[in-house]
Amino acid sequence: MTQFPQSFPATRMRRLRQSPWIRSLVAENTLTPADLVWAIFVHDGEGRVPVGSLPGIDRLSVAEAALTAKRASALGIPAIAIFPYIGPEGKDETGSGALDPDGLVPRALRAMKDAAPEIGLITDVALDAYTSHGHDGLLDADGTIPNDATVEKLCIQALAHAAAGADSVAPSDMMDGRIGAIRTAFDEEGFTNMMILAYAAKYASGFYGPYRDAIGSAKSLKGDKKTYQQDPANSDEALREVALDLAEGADMVMVKPGLPYLDIVHRVSATFGVPTLAYQVSGEYAQIKAAAQNGWIDGDRVMMESLMCFKRAGASGIITYFAEEAAENLG
Ligand code: PBG
Repeated sequence: MTQFPQSFPATRMRRLRQSPWIRSLVAENTLTPADLVWAIFVHDGEGRVPVGSLPGIDRLSVAEAALTAKRASALGIPAIAIFPYIGPEGKDETGSGALDPDGLVPRALRAMKDAAPEIGLITDVALDAYTSHGHDGLLDADGTIPNDATVEKLCIQALAHAAAGADSVAPSDMMDGRIGAIRTAFDEEGFTNMMILAYAAKYASGFYGPYRDAIGSAKSLKGDKKTYQQDPANSDEALREVALDLAEGADMVMVKPGLPYLDIVHRVSATFGVPTLAYQVSGEYAQIKAAAQNGWIDGDRVMMESLMCFKRAGASGIITYFAEEAAENLG
């Protein structure tokens, strides 16, 4: 009986997979804590309050946020992105709380800068946490979100963050022209070193569900955000958004959500060659946690794999609720 195969492949891809040392030597990408931005929620109360839809994630008091900044420093995580929970009493039609120079976010910024000045602080610029209707902008009587009037508010919000010690603002509102307007406002007020991380390609996504729960806008949101956030069907449109934000003065761009939009991360980083961050959003985190809690997947393994996939796609950094756990895992 003839034995098969009779010839042998010269190239055997498996040679470079046979043991850990060679696998690590030929690895094309690496993941370190320096790639992570730790997404946190702050609230005005005391202590830590768990977010039901984000297992393992708490809303933090200002004091806890300061401790978190120290923790980030100890873990080698370079930056924190801060998102506020504002209770119903702090919300109104125009989201006026967002403009308060002594509001929750400015107070958290000061405390965190004080605790760990070496940690980068990135703030969300949008009105949704502060509006009674849950939109990122103002809401006209006819149900539309007025663009330019919203941008005026966003500039004031961004200046309040800059004055309180933010290192970078991250406008997530998707209004047209807001990057240019915020850049001009910064320059006019002397904040020439303020960085802008533009949520350049942000999609109208169901993956934000747990976040809206965490910031207290889930119940209040009227309608959807499809008139300002992108259609998940579109990819060329993302490149146009990025080009505009860069032309208007963005230093870095972001793609959001993350894993389902890795093709966009890849296109953006390959096309523009600018720092491209990806946001592994709340629904992505919740999916992994829920499946892990049910014993259906190995949570740690999938967490680390998902983060590495962002690097492979071309992300320079990942905003993630997993930052602490992942950094501990890497350490
Ligand atoms: C809105 C904002 C959202 C997120 C960050 N900033 C939600 C939205 O657009 O409705 C979502 C983040 C997440 O899901 O983790 N300003």
